[in-house]
Amino acid sequence: MSGADYIPSPKDGAAWVTGASAGIGLAVVERLVKDGWTVYATARSEEKLNALAAGSGGKIIAAPGDVTDPEAMQGIVDRITAAEGLSLVILNAGVYIPMRAQEFNVDDVKKHMDVNIMGVANGLAPAMAYMLERGSGCLALVSSVAGYRGLPKAAAYGATKAALINMAEALAYDLHPKGVRISLICPGFVETDATAVNDFDMPFLMKTDDAAERIVAGLKKAKFEITFPLRFSLILKSMRFLPARAYLWLGTKAMGWDKIDD
Ligand SMILES: NC(=O)c1ccc[n+]([C@@H]2O[C@H](COP(=O)([O-])OP(=O)(O)OC[C@H]3O[C@@H](n4cnc5c(N)ncnc54)[C@H](OP(=O)(O)O)[C@@H]3O)[C@@H](O)[C@H]2O)c1
Repeated sequence: MSGADYIPSPKDGAAWVTGASAGIGLAVVERLVKDGWTVYATARSEEKLNALAAGSGGKIIAAPGDVTDPEAMQGIVDRITAAEGLSLVILNAGVYIPMRAQEFNVDDVKKHMDVNIMGVANGLAPAMAYMLERGSGCLALVSSVAGYRGLPKAAAYGATKAALINMAEALAYDLHPKGVRISLICPGFVETDATAVNDFDMPFLMKTDDAAERIVAGLKKAKFEITFPLRFSLILKSMRFLPARAYLWLGTKAMGWDKIDD
């Protein structure tokens, strides 16, 4: 079977979710448990993960770690695969620091790269090697609609999310013929601690439970790209087809994105 058609199932092993202590990741963990999954939950906040695991009847297992530490991520994958199979990995941990030209600084750019790109690569490398060896599994990278085109305040964040879109597409060519599926998750605005810093009206803002429902539904339908809310994603996605000059004109003249802080 082509990996593109692989539908992850708790019968094939456990799920692993990073960024599981809060926001979208936490909601996804809880949604997966409802479907019968045993979920290994990773984030830096060990106490939050332990509390989550304590009330789960053994369905959530705390696997604390910093995604920027490759050895820690290898250790978590080794731990899961020694205990049981691993059939679903959702690499969701990410950071968002609003950044326009006036706030552009190398430290914050590096923070985004370290967590949003290297943090994904650190989890992906051991999980992908295991699934390739096994000939099945599903890997999901959490990107964002902010990866489709450059958006205001997302100078560093958007660049990291665009990188993940490219990475997932590139890997699909190698993984799908080997029975391993890769999926790309591109949410619009979801109400979490990360977006609480935004001082502008977020169109089509969603609750985390709603986002988790759509993520899990998309994974069950073996979708390559899971993006929502549909109307917002379609608007942003269609902008990908515009030449850069036309896109920048639209953002400036029609959307007023150059004056968002004025
Ligand atoms: N919210 C949105 O509107 C939105 C839209 C599109 C895409 N996304 C993406 O969805 C993902 C989740 O976002 P969110 O809004 O749910 O964020 P959030 O509420 O801020 O949660 C972020 C999660 O990532 C973990 N994390 C951060 N740095 C980490 C590190 N170095 N190592 C391990 N875990 C780390 C955090 O836990 P600890 O602090 O305990 O480590 C937390 O569990 C991100 O990749 C984000 O870019 C979000």
